[in-house]
Amino acid sequence: MTHRIAVIGGDGVGPEVTNQALTVLSAVADRFGFAYETTDYDLGGRRYLTTGEVLPETVQTELATHDAILLGAVGTPEIPPGVLERGLLLKLRFDFDLYVNLRPVKLYPGVASPISGLGPEDCDLVVVRENTEGLYTGAGSVTGRDTPQEVATQESLNTYVAIERIVRFAFELAIARRNHLTLCHKTNVLTYAGDLWQRTFDKVAADFPSVRTDYVHVDAACLYLVADPGRFDVIVTDNLFGDIITDLGAAIQGGLGLAASANLNPTRRFPSMFEPVHGSAPDIAGRGWANPVASVLSLAMCLQHLGEGAASRAVEDAAVSVLPDLKTMGGPDMGMSTSEIGALIVSRLVK
Ligand code: NAD
Ligand code: IPM
Ligand code: MN
Repeated sequence: MTHRIAVIGGDGVGPEVTNQALTVLSAVADRFGFAYETTDYDLGGRRYLTTGEVLPETVQTELATHDAILLGAVGTPEIPPGVLERGLLLKLRFDFDLYVNLRPVKLYPGVASPISGLGPEDCDLVVVRENTEGLYTGAGSVTGRDTPQEVATQESLNTYVAIERIVRFAFELAIARRNHLTLCHKTNVLTYAGDLWQRTFDKVAADFPSVRTDYVHVDAACLYLVADPGRFDVIVTDNLFGDIITDLGAAIQGGLGLAASANLNPTRRFPSMFEPVHGSAPDIAGRGWANPVASVLSLAMCLQHLGEGAASRAVEDAAVSVLPDLKTMGGPDMGMSTSEIGALIVSRLVK
């Protein structure tokens, strides 16, 4: 069986890191003897500026026929915020019902966390972020634009069905890990949405008696993530909270250059999408300063999803093995360029 993988490099450092993931993919496929083909999609800022297209329907229909999507990042300062982010990335997450956003936060050996004294044994958690609703749906309105009377609203949509399925996924993940699940929300203020989340969580919990459960408000979660990340195993949370706490998680594990993610449709009705947590990083684009490890670790998550478990583990091990060789986890002082790191990962692949 040939895995058909769609590739959207996107903007800024997106294509730079994705190219390294593709180099690693080619090497690991050789080593492990599986077949794949990639289709490259020219989407993102350049396409929009030259043709006005963000995600043509024909392209989306084609994407849907693939087994998985590898994405770099989209968004560029020349284009108003939201055009590409909503029109491409969120559109794919929503239309392909990629309802699980899985974001591991793991401190790897040989990486210095900004939190002094923190070691790998103290930081190994996964954020399960609801990926299809909440404040992200785009519901809302503006009236009186550009007048002193202007009023903007942005609505948070929360449905039982979406909460139930993400919470259930998180419980199942907790069972496969350390049997501990934390609900993260803001039930003390967002009383309508928070109450639905809490009641749904409690209801699903009854099906998983072996899992220890607790609750943290999102503000306290930020404190605990920094002060004591070891208290977490799996965290389930809504779309916006999940977005915010996973950048914090990335900082704790050493930087955005290491933070991988999967957007999963567990029913497999549509291709799942794999991408680093980071964005297009316009401040460092074009200089070889982007760390490709997040993208390569996202490839490992993709291979796992495609049923190539051994290849996935080999990619993860090789990517993690280069981290102690880096002087910093991204930027001008990394000690190696983006493509040198990619080549080093390939050289460390072990079957
Ligand atoms: P960003 O994640 O692009 O960058 C934040 C900081 O992290 C920057 O200082 C950047 O240099 C650094 N960084 C990011 N990736 C790195 C890497 N691989 N190695 C080393 N350092 C890295 O976030 P931002 O600056 O807020 O957003 C820039 C653009 O990206 C915006 O248009 C935003 O909407 C978009 N964005 C896209 C995605 C996505 O496509 N998945 C995710 C986040 C942001
Ligand atoms: C992420 C990004 C996206 C999000 C943006 C670019 C729409 O920040 O993947 O974390 O908010 O989900
Ligand atoms: Mn984000």
